[in-house]
Amino acid sequence: MKAKEGVVEFLNQILKSELTAVHQYLLHAALCKNWGYERLHEHFSHLAQEEVSHSSGLIGHILYLDGTPDVAHLDQVGAGRTVKDLFKADLEFEREDVESLRKAIVHCAKVGDFTTRHLMEDMAVDSEEHVDWFETQLRTIDQVGLDRYLAEQIKK
Ligand SMILES: [Fe+2]
Ligand SMILES: [Fe+2]
Repeated sequence: MKAKEGVVEFLNQILKSELTAVHQYLLHAALCKNWGYERLHEHFSHLAQEEVSHSSGLIGHILYLDGTPDVAHLDQVGAGRTVKDLFKADLEFEREDVESLRKAIVHCAKVGDFTTRHLMEDMAVDSEEHVDWFETQLRTIDQVGLDRYLAEQIKK
């Protein structure tokens, strides 16, 4: 199927951030394992898997639109030296992701590409859940204190 004006460009831009998310969450999963936080390791591994499925959905959809998926580029991967640093970087990242998806959804509506719009809307639901999870963790840390929060992350 032939893509509507600008749609493949939006999809490739979002693919770049989804692929970045895969790398970022794999790194954060490994860091948490290394620091001994098994529960966080599991959660970040699960997030990485979700971002893999977003990425593969996008690649498939770009091909369906006769476009060329660009898998060769990444954005800056957010890192950090503490769990809180990771959460802050991830929260900022996911908020930006929701914003890019919102712009893509508006564009798809404008050019009348409802299939792509639907795909983006599904991804935006997941990204908003990711935003919510990081917001909740940071709020919990503020409420119970960092030491107590981290003590809960050691066991699965
Ligand atoms: Fe995603
Ligand atoms: Fe995400």
